[in-house]
Amino acid sequence: MSTEPLWILPAASDTAQRVDAIFFTVLGVTGFVTLAIFVVMAWFAIRYRAGSPADRSNPPASKLPLELGWIFTPLALFLGLFAWAAAVYGDFYRADARATTIFVVGKQWMWKAQHPDGRREIDELHLALGQPVRLVLSTEDVIHSFYVPAFRIKQDAVPGRYTTIRFTPTKAGIYRLHCAEYCGTDHARMGGRVIVMAPAEFSRWLSTGNESRSLAAQGFDLFREKGCSGCHDPNSTVHAPDLEGIYGRTVHLADGRSVVADEPYLRDSMLLPKRDVVAGYAPIMPSFQGQLSEGEIAALISFLKEKKQ
Ligand code: CUA
Repeated sequence: MSTEPLWILPAASDTAQRVDAIFFTVLGVTGFVTLAIFVVMAWFAIRYRAGSPADRSNPPASKLPLELGWIFTPLALFLGLFAWAAAVYGDFYRADARATTIFVVGKQWMWKAQHPDGRREIDELHLALGQPVRLVLSTEDVIHSFYVPAFRIKQDAVPGRYTTIRFTPTKAGIYRLHCAEYCGTDHARMGGRVIVMAPAEFSRWLSTGNESRSLAAQGFDLFREKGCSGCHDPNSTVHAPDLEGIYGRTVHLADGRSVVADEPYLRDSMLLPKRDVVAGYAPIMPSFQGQLSEGEIAALISFLKEKKQ
């Protein structure tokens, strides 16, 4: 099995099939309209050319239904296309309980991935066929963009925040991975391969990993090493929020807002703790900016996700 040739672009994910359907529909509709306009234009240009004996008296009276028809038919058509595309776009970010979360970090000039079971890889991403995945992207330096043409997905990795994208690989094979945001000298070389394998084969691949402990288990150790447990343990004397089952919960903040505790929220709580202070607690949490690597933040979040009652 080799990487797809450049002149063939397979549709290897659910996203790819949906994006292609929109693309070819828009191409068909606009192509048909363009063609129809040019045919009519040519016909009028010839029929009413200077000196032609065509009848120019008695212009047709305005017909209301006809006028309404050509105003509202295209309007409905294009609003329909908009709604369709918006639904597909919204789906990239929809929460999906079945999706495996993989943390991907961009860095001049490589992509690093961390699987939930702890396995790490660089410039390669192994995925199981038919298993929905959610990529949580971050960067250690400048803006990069995670781009897999065969999946029709492209998502920026932006300094200081998490971005996500969700899709399901639907075709086994090896596909190109690129960086699609100019990020310096070796931008053009930044990338690698995405390998989509049958689920059994993928499990075998995971088990031959270089890391025996899951990401959550690594996070559990960090939770102690970095001193988080000193305040966040239920029997701590410090008044800090209990983190049992925090992931996915709605958190009420001191300034009256409510947020869902997702990956971006948990990350911001570690790095920018003064920004979203939980209602009923003093803003005493120190910032861990500069003290946690992207990999450590990913491990801590994975640990918090599994920390359920
Ligand atoms: Cu990273 Cu371009």
